Amino acid sequence: MLEIKNLHAEVDGNKILRGIDLTVRPGEVHAIMGPNGSGKSTLSYVLAGKEDYEITEGSISYNGVDWSELGADERAAAGMFLAFQYPIEIPGVATMTFLKTALNAQRKARGEDEISTPDFMKLVREKSKELKVTPDMLKRPLNVGFSGGEKKRAEILQMSLLEPTLCVLDETDSGLDIDALRIVSEGVNQLRSPERSMIVITHYQRLLDHIVPDVVHVLSKGKIVKTGGKELALELEKNGYADYVDEEAA
Ligand SMILES: Nc1ncnc2c1ncn2[C@@H]1O[C@H](COP(=O)(O)OP(=O)(O)OP(=O)(O)O)[C@@H](O)[C@H]1O
Ligand SMILES: [Mg+2]
Repeated sequence: MLEIKNLHAEVDGNKILRGIDLTVRPGEVHAIMGPNGSGKSTLSYVLAGKEDYEITEGSISYNGVDWSELGADERAAAGMFLAFQYPIEIPGVATMTFLKTALNAQRKARGEDEISTPDFMKLVREKSKELKVTPDMLKRPLNVGFSGGEKKRAEILQMSLLEPTLCVLDETDSGLDIDALRIVSEGVNQLRSPERSMIVITHYQRLLDHIVPDVVHVLSKGKIVKTGGKELALELEKNGYADYVDEEAA
């Protein structure tokens, strides 16, 4: 279970998160919506333990372990995965090699043996077929020259191979065409399980028709200003954020 309490965080001395309380139980999918610049990606970076993102107050704990002193690699080993809003290009490292290295690191953290090359090839072929990641993409350097939608599919391929227990998806739907949105959503839905928690950051209710959340939160100016069920996303689609943003400013 993920427990975020009164989380304040800053980057380069700029206060971005201003008191976030959020509990995500195993099996739950929480959606986070909110205007541009409200702090959604910042929250995802703080959760992932990205360098330069400093917690100034409050706490993050996962399965009872305080995460404040853990680095990004230790959090990943504990089951955290972040699908980036802007996936990073890694020139010189073939996607396939990257995926195998990442999977073996994760297996090691779980106390499992390295996966054999034939087993890995079989697994990656299966999963990439489902996510329409072509063999050609697997040979190319990670994300280099991938289209926006291809990058997002490669992120979800990585996620489905690693089988993290805490998945954070930052605008995975942005830039996806209609078919890719369905394919990616199916990939995410296959990972839904009673042991796994998910946080899905999105601007569009449309994604939540595919990945149906248990809870929807609205983030504004670094705080959660409204929490509701999936119907909240529909209401936002209709009325925008004005009600909540004004409420918060008052
Ligand atoms: N390194 C930085 N220095 C100064 N301000 C920053 C830095 N990083 C982020 N910010 C600011 O923090 C705020 C929150 O940014 P963040 O990327 O978390 O927003 P977001 O909710 O993800 O927005 P979007 O919907 O556009 O993705 C923005 O105003 C942004 O300009
Ligand atoms: Mg963002």
